[in-house]
This record gives sequence, C-alpha cells and structure tokens, in this order.
Amino acid sequence: MSKILVTGGTGYIGSHTVVELFNAGYEVVIVDDLSNSDVKILSQIEKITGKRPAFVKLDLCEEKEVIAFAKQHQDIAGIIHFAAFKAVGESVKQPLKYYRNNFYSLINILTAFNSNIKLVFSSSCTVYGQPDKLPVTETADVKKAESPYGNTKQIAEEILQETCSVCPSLEVIVLRYFNPVGAHGTALIGELPNGVPQNLVPFITQSAIGKRAAITVYGDDYNTPDGSAIRDYIHVVDLAKAHVSAIKRLAEKVGQNYEVFNIGTGKGSSVLEIINAFEQTTGEKLDYTIGKRREGDIEQTFGDVTMANEILGWKAELDINEMMNSAWNWEKYLRDNPF
Ligand code: NAD
Ligand code: WQD
Repeated sequence: MSKILVTGGTGYIGSHTVVELFNAGYEVVIVDDLSNSDVKILSQIEKITGKRPAFVKLDLCEEKEVIAFAKQHQDIAGIIHFAAFKAVGESVKQPLKYYRNNFYSLINILTAFNSNIKLVFSSSCTVYGQPDKLPVTETADVKKAESPYGNTKQIAEEILQETCSVCPSLEVIVLRYFNPVGAHGTALIGELPNGVPQNLVPFITQSAIGKRAAITVYGDDYNTPDGSAIRDYIHVVDLAKAHVSAIKRLAEKVGQNYEVFNIGTGKGSSVLEIINAFEQTTGEKLDYTIGKRREGDIEQTFGDVTMANEILGWKAELDINEMMNSAWNWEKYLRDNPF
C-alpha cells in the first residue's frame, strides 16, 4: 500500500482528497499547521472512512522541521501539495505573507525530498486571467497575474517546471482547478470560510442560513447571455478524485516528468444561474441585489478538460444541483454542529 503525503490535508480540498485516497486504498499522512483549518476534520474523515489519517502539525515554512519530517518518512510514495494561503483580496494587502508562505513551503518540500519525489501541485485557472479563447486549453497563454496570490501560482509552476527540467527524479503533475464548490455527500466535511466569504457559493449558503445579509451579484453588464459573469464550477468530490488519478499516473512511467491539466467540468455557469440552481434544488429563497463589477474579476472562463479526460482518465460527474445541495447540507450541518 503506497503512502501519500497530503500537505494542507485538513483544508477544504485536502480533506476531500484524503477521503478519496482512503477509498482508493492509499495510506495517508497529513501535514498541516492548522492556520486555515480545524483539527476536528481528522475525526470527520474518520467518521466517513473508518480510518484516521496520520497527522503531523508542522509549518512547512520551517525548513529544518520539513527536512526532519522527510528523514522520518522515507517511505512516502507521492506528495499532494495543497498547503498555501488562498485569499485573493488579502494577498493584495499583504503580498509578502503570500509570497513567503506559498514559496517557502514548496521550496522546503522540494529541498527536503531532494527533488526525488512524485508531486501533485494545486494550481488555478487564475493563471489564464481572461482567456482569449474559450474553453481555455492548457497551452493558452498565462496572463499577467491580477494578484500576488495568482502570481504565487504562476511562479510556483515555473519553479516546478524549471526544477523538473534539470532533475529527472522529480515528477510533477500540475492541476489547474477551476472553481471548486460543494461538500462531501455525508455533509461531514466541507469548506470552512474564514470571516466573511469572498467566494460566491459559501456566501450564498451563509446568506440562506441567515448568517449574512443579501448577496450582491457583482455586475450584470458583462457580455454574457444574462449579463452576469461565468465560471466553471467543479464539485470538490470530483476535484478530489482528480488527485487520485494524478497520483496513479505518477506511479506509471510516462516518459515526461512535468505535465499540466485543467480540472473543471468544461461547462460555464453564470452567477444568476448558480443563484437559480441553489433556489431550485434546495427550495430556499435567496435575497440578492445587483451591484457593480468586482475589481479584478474577469468576464468568463471555463476549461477545456479533454486532456484530463483522455490522459488522466478522469471526468467530472457531479452537476450544479449536486454542488448546491451538498454545499447547503454542509451549511446546515455547521449550524447544528458548530466547529
Ligand atoms: P484551505 O485553506 O482550505 O487549505 C489549505 C491548508 O493548508 C489549510 O488547512 C492550511 O492550514 C494549510 N497551510 C497553509 N499554509 C501552511 C503551511 N505553511 N504549513 C502547513 N500547512 C499550511 O484551501 P483549499 O481551498 O483547500 O485550497 C488548497 C489548495 O488549492 C491551495 O494551494 C489553493 O491555492 C489551491 N486552489 C484553491 C482553489 C479554491 O477556490 N479553493 C482554487 C484553485 C486552487
Ligand atoms: C465567482 C463569481 C464573482 C461573490 C476565485 C479566485 C480564483 C480561484 C477561485 C484560487 C464571480 C461572483 C462572488 C459574491 C458575486 N481560487 N460573486 N457575489 O473570483 O472566480 O475565483 O476563487 O485559486 O483564483 O479568484 O470565484 O467564487 O469569488 O466568484 O457575484 O458575493 O461570483 O464576481 O463572477 P472567482 P468567486
């Protein structure tokens, strides 16, 4: 049984991925400093899978500690590196916080494992900015980043690509996620937003449960069918499964040691369509007003996911209704079982 190191494994996408790794028969060790997650997630994973992941509380920016960890865990077959800060707005206000955390953690892992490791890296569709052509393929231009956060993803990809080009023992798959939403079907794990959610779906669920006021739709004057902005929303459980597919591919000898895949559904949905889907599937009425465009937002994006479908053998299976329903069930679970 292969052992996989999941950094950031108590976080939103990491916790769902740990569940899918267990389901696929892997052994897991999580490293997380709990800077944006709760240790209780370990018990929640145990409730879902019957297995408690091994856990080491560690700040990956601490080089000596990461090196010591790697020495003690020489049986690790692969790493999924989620650990990073991800709040776009905060990164504009505190760029060094983001450059420090997102780069030091990656560089320390590569150093500690002597660039002799199979690694899946969490990147983002944010690297494409507003694509010139839709659906956007992996070969599309990377645009100037809109935020320090986005820049950390672009530069991290370059760090990995350049290191791979001189270290054949380093094998990397970069996954560029579109917009992850939803929660596990059991409603035992999901997203734990810090403060007022900046992202659409957690704001919708918190508004519906009465924790927030009305939703503001950021702009209805875009050049889209209903005027609101379009994104490729992907269910977090589907996204988690893409990581298992990537780990399996890394276990095969594929002849190239750096690959990039879009992970989305390939289908765009507008903000108003998401609001409508939420109301239809949950039966809850949402209060919303139309506001101005949000600074830094793009008009529309959705991914070409042919490469992930054909090469990784992975395909998104869950639709918008399942995304909304699971997000809503998780919000209700949190109300009844506060963390
Ligand atoms: P999250 O904040 O829920 O999870 C990240 C985890 O990493 C947290 O548990 C946090 O405590 C941990 N962490 C952060 N810095 C650390 C450090 N120095 N040492 C140890 N642990 C540390 O975020 P998420 O939504 O699960 O995102 C996971 C990854 O996916 C991130 O790299 C993020 O940038 C990327 N991503 C997220 C989205 C999204 O919309 N959620 C989209 C594209 C890419
Ligand atoms: C989606 C749509 C908003 C809130 C961000 C990051 C990106 C990636 C995913 C990490 C947009 C609109 C939102 C609200 C609204 N993360 N909206 N009212 O901006 O596409 O992407 O998360 O890599 O890097 O930038 O996601 O969920 O914030 O917004 O109208 O209260 O919903 O304008 O059109 P976004 P989001």
